[in-house]
Amino acid sequence: MEPSKEYLFKYKGFYFGVITSPEYVATLEDFEIKDSDIFIATYPKSGTVWTQNILSLIIHEGHRNGTENMDNMQRIPWLEYRTDNKDYTALPLPRVFATHLPYYLVPRGLRNKRGRVIYITRNPKDVMVSFYHFSKFISSLEEVPDFNIFMERFLAGKVLASSWLDHVAGWYSHAEDFNILFLTFEEMKKDLRSAVLKICDFLDRKLSEEEVDSVVRQATFENMRKDPRANYENLPDDIIDKDKGSFLRKGTVGDWKNLMTVAQNERFDNVLGEKIKTLPIKFIWDINDEM
Ligand code: A3P
Repeated sequence: MEPSKEYLFKYKGFYFGVITSPEYVATLEDFEIKDSDIFIATYPKSGTVWTQNILSLIIHEGHRNGTENMDNMQRIPWLEYRTDNKDYTALPLPRVFATHLPYYLVPRGLRNKRGRVIYITRNPKDVMVSFYHFSKFISSLEEVPDFNIFMERFLAGKVLASSWLDHVAGWYSHAEDFNILFLTFEEMKKDLRSAVLKICDFLDRKLSEEEVDSVVRQATFENMRKDPRANYENLPDDIIDKDKGSFLRKGTVGDWKNLMTVAQNERFDNVLGEKIKTLPIKFIWDINDEM
């Protein structure tokens, strides 16, 4: 069954939410890239909002020391889900964007190593479970109350951002075209400080020990939940139903075990298990797994 047109449309083989349009998405391939641009690229539910906050904290001293009160959403706009008519050419440098675009739809200028891309992956069972909960409280996604049905759609790539596997495999196999840093949600969770240092290094940002400490402290799940600049709770009621969930839900590794049955886990592994092994990523399925 195809996803409802009320929520998703397909452009060049990829599912977008209807809050954007095919006409707008088509313009993005020609979107002009500046050398200093930074893109956070992810499949949904892989740690985008977390990485947005880390970048705001690293790049903007005023965000780090609390003297500036600007939401991450405004600092780091969603490239393809533009909800205002802000002139991106007027954003302060370096511009940072978040995107769920597959590698083949991003602005052409990003290839040939112009700009920088930070690509975050997460183990796909946690991605799927997070996505399932997310679709209950965000009004722009179809709510699929039956998890079995949601899982079948996810496995078939009939959800926002299409197939998880294609997204990840596509970015990894085209890594050479981009100036790109790959990180995983799980490595961020296990050792946030090392992940922050890797990002600083990739962005050529030299922060003092204290500044790094401050970034790490403010980017923990608990502190982000309390930070209105970071928790996305300023979104209007017609976009999110706050009684049904939040962007920062659990923030753990292995939550899939609380929802998936043994049979569902087997079904998942039958469809994706072998293909996942072909990816150059060592997935962490449980917080106690070795990195
Ligand atoms: P859960 O639903 O499993 O809690 P995205 O931003 O790409 O939509 O990803 C959302 C997921 O990242 C959610 O996962 C959310 O809780 C988690 N997340 C956001 N900030 C986090 C943080 N500081 N630490 C750990 N997880 C975080």
